[in-house]
Amino acid sequence: MRSVAVASLSIRDFRNLAKVDLDLGPGFNVLSGDNGQGKTNLLEAVYVLATSRSFRTARLDELVAAGAETSSVRGRVADSGDVREQSVGMRRGLRAARIDGKRPPSLAAYALNTPVVVFHPGSLALTAGGGAERRRLLDRIALYSSPASLEEASSYGQAMRARQRVLEKRGEAAGDLDGWEELMVRHGLAVSQGRGAAADLLIPAAERAFARIGPQGLSLSIRYQRGAPPDPEAFRAELTRRRVQDRARGSATMGPHRDELALSLGALGVRAMASQGQHRAVVLALELGEIDVITVTRGVRPVLLLDDVSSELDRARTASLLGALREERGQVLLTTTRPELIDAAGLSGVEGRMSFRVVRGEVWVTD
Ligand SMILES: Nc1ncnc2c1ncn2[C@@H]1O[C@H](COP(=O)(O)OP(=O)(O)OP(=O)(O)O)[C@@H](O)[C@H]1O
Ligand SMILES: [Mg+2]
Repeated sequence: MRSVAVASLSIRDFRNLAKVDLDLGPGFNVLSGDNGQGKTNLLEAVYVLATSRSFRTARLDELVAAGAETSSVRGRVADSGDVREQSVGMRRGLRAARIDGKRPPSLAAYALNTPVVVFHPGSLALTAGGGAERRRLLDRIALYSSPASLEEASSYGQAMRARQRVLEKRGEAAGDLDGWEELMVRHGLAVSQGRGAAADLLIPAAERAFARIGPQGLSLSIRYQRGAPPDPEAFRAELTRRRVQDRARGSATMGPHRDELALSLGALGVRAMASQGQHRAVVLALELGEIDVITVTRGVRPVLLLDDVSSELDRARTASLLGALREERGQVLLTTTRPELIDAAGLSGVEGRMSFRVVRGEVWVTD
């Protein structure tokens, strides 16, 4: 299997990291430090290096250190024996990504080279937020297994918006509605098929991960609920039947844009009923599941970034998460304000483990 790891980092004027030059280990890397020192910024820099994007913000200006004009993250990425040089430079809301000095065909192509999965406090929206977050997860996975699915989703969205405009401007008897609904059915079923396949891969992997890290006796069950009937005739008939309603509501009330990934713990729905720590455990399980799926579909173990995982997990949950990570074969970067928890879980002896301390934007190797 391909193994990919960020071997070194060279960061300039990225948030509070003025100048950081660092070698990382191929396995488990622990970054500890007090609040506000730059731990999350460092993970964010790694994420930017891998994907050219941030997991915290869509606004590139925020990434450039206050008072600086430009910011850059460079690094060597080890990929199954080869090493490539990657860099992302940022200036006034623009970015330039390079691999071995060359421009990639697109930023999406750039990001596909170095798969990375991140868990951070904002990830909690995955279980606590609306269905769009969970559809994005399925779409991300569908993209790995069938790259054409992105186009299907955008064609579906176009047809849906066009139908809505026609409904609202010209009413439910307009002649071209049939055509738009036909397109919604065709592309919508392709979207559902991609998501269904993604769900088939993700669900068992995430349920297994939860069994490893969640509390004993409580199991996570996940179900993909389609927002539209799987049969094209039934889908088309239902769209036609809902024209009056959809016109009045101002949006399509049925279709894959209403798909859900329903999550429950025992008999209770996660979104409304789970505790903070349970939310965290479910999000982690989904992300560990995503890693397994990427490993299987792309043949490469993604880099795993874990920001502040233990802050709302109890001692037992933290220990089981870390126990699961012991078996993790890829590169892991984990931040914590409490490195003693990591040691308590017996991770100090993990082969190839490296520890760093982050203090006021500077990073020191501690063992
Ligand atoms: N563009 C920027 N320029 C300069 N400093 C910034 C910029 N953006 C963020 N910072 C600062 O970087 C500091 C470190 O932030 P970071 O989120 O990495 O902290 P942390 O170590 O993860 O802390 P915590 O444990 O509280 O999560 C913060 O004080 C923040 O205000
Ligand atoms: Mg942080």
